[in-house]
Amino acid sequence: MENKISLYRPPAPYPGEAAEGWRNFSNYLSSDPLGVIPKELYECAIFQFDDDDPRKFLVNEPKLLSRVLEEQQAIFPKGGGIAELLKPILHNGLVSAEGVDWQDQHEMVAPIFSNSSVRISFGYLQEALSSFVERLLTYSETGQTIKLAEEINFLVADVNFRCVFSKPIEIQLEHQCFNSIMKYEEEVAGTALDLKRFSGGGQPAFTEAALKTAENVRAVISQIIDEHMYNKPPNTQNFFQIFQEARVPSTGKRFTKSQLVDQVASIFLSSHETTSAALCWSVYILAQCPEIVERIRTEVQLVTACGRISYEHLPRLRFTRDVFKEVLRLYPPVLYLSRIAREDTTLGDTLIPKESMVIISPWVVHRHRSFWENPDMFDPDRFSRGEAKATLGSYFPFGLGPRMCTGASYVTFLGIKVIARLCSMFDFETVNTDEVRPDSTLYLKPSRPVLCKVHKRKFSK
Ligand code: HEM
Repeated sequence: MENKISLYRPPAPYPGEAAEGWRNFSNYLSSDPLGVIPKELYECAIFQFDDDDPRKFLVNEPKLLSRVLEEQQAIFPKGGGIAELLKPILHNGLVSAEGVDWQDQHEMVAPIFSNSSVRISFGYLQEALSSFVERLLTYSETGQTIKLAEEINFLVADVNFRCVFSKPIEIQLEHQCFNSIMKYEEEVAGTALDLKRFSGGGQPAFTEAALKTAENVRAVISQIIDEHMYNKPPNTQNFFQIFQEARVPSTGKRFTKSQLVDQVASIFLSSHETTSAALCWSVYILAQCPEIVERIRTEVQLVTACGRISYEHLPRLRFTRDVFKEVLRLYPPVLYLSRIAREDTTLGDTLIPKESMVIISPWVVHRHRSFWENPDMFDPDRFSRGEAKATLGSYFPFGLGPRMCTGASYVTFLGIKVIARLCSMFDFETVNTDEVRPDSTLYLKPSRPVLCKVHKRKFSK
């Protein structure tokens, strides 16, 4: 049942000729990073920026990027990327730790991402999604226009909060915690454009305001933990319980209170904006592709026999999964993975001097002209055609190797479930369709509020 209708091109700049000066890394970052990427960057294997300090490389070739991210993690540790910018909140949590400390934490929190835990999280997702659907039903009755990101941010905050603490998030707390995290991310977005300063081992220069916001976020999380420990719901399974029971493999010690804050912050920060961005793009694209929505509905009806979408149904919703995968190909929320070379080395024929910054961009590789057919078009069938397999390592919205996203399988289930449920129940109509562009300041989000109307389908459950 393949889609023969002409393909949709979601908003993205058209790669053109290289503008003057764009090879200079700081010029490149301080302009519109997605807009200025010329054709040649989507065609090359490896690219060296032309800077005062020329130790900055962009690696596209799958074998080479796999060496950086998977095979030679010891030579290419994390550095100069988003994790560094989030350190004032994360301190030394899983996302930003390195070496033995990272290995210990990785082992300690692994049960969170086991199959049984993902299944429990699915229950929390169902609850949060039901509340979300209730809100959408109200909007469909009143006919009001909603700001899509605000609604989806709340849904994702609610899912996260339930997974960590087994209870729904209240609006006030969502503002205090998740909105403060977003405020922090906006405050450091300028610093992100100043990556040059802290490549090669330097430190990013945080503003007073950003540090203050980071302190507030940690204080709020610390208070949430205190309240949770005091009023813990009995017999519940959640991420926080796993953090509390975890032991450092070498010493048998538990996480300290400050380390518990690091872990909760790591989950909140790594999952919130990324998942929200992916879901916003999904709804935006589907609003422009009614024939894809029909195919999702047909699949859901066939697989669930018109019943409720259960955990067991998810692996069988293959087309819906491919839709979510294609959204993540075109709009990978984490635009750049950044590593610092610990020693002189080579990648292919290119010499990579010690302390070079090696950047790998899912955005560029996912739209690379050598690895994808019609790279800028929305074509979920490319996965069932086996296109991504043709060049292994050309698709990695969750990263690759040991530092790959620990939440990847959980998010994939979440994406399938949310898309399947929303398409089964609603039609979405975007109001400001032509104004929406990808914004790349920290995560890849829609540039302005996507304004949307929600229409309840006739006969939907
Ligand atoms: C669409 C949603 C998401 C995307 C696209 C995404 C993407 C990524 C990427 C690309 C990395 C690797 C960064 C690097 O190598 O430098 C990463 C790391 C990580 N992600 Fe996700 N993520 C998503 C959602 C989540 C969720 C829901 C969770 C948790 C519930 C999560 C937890 C983490 C953690 C803990 C790490 C650090 C792993 C480590 O360094 O050991 N992510 N994510």
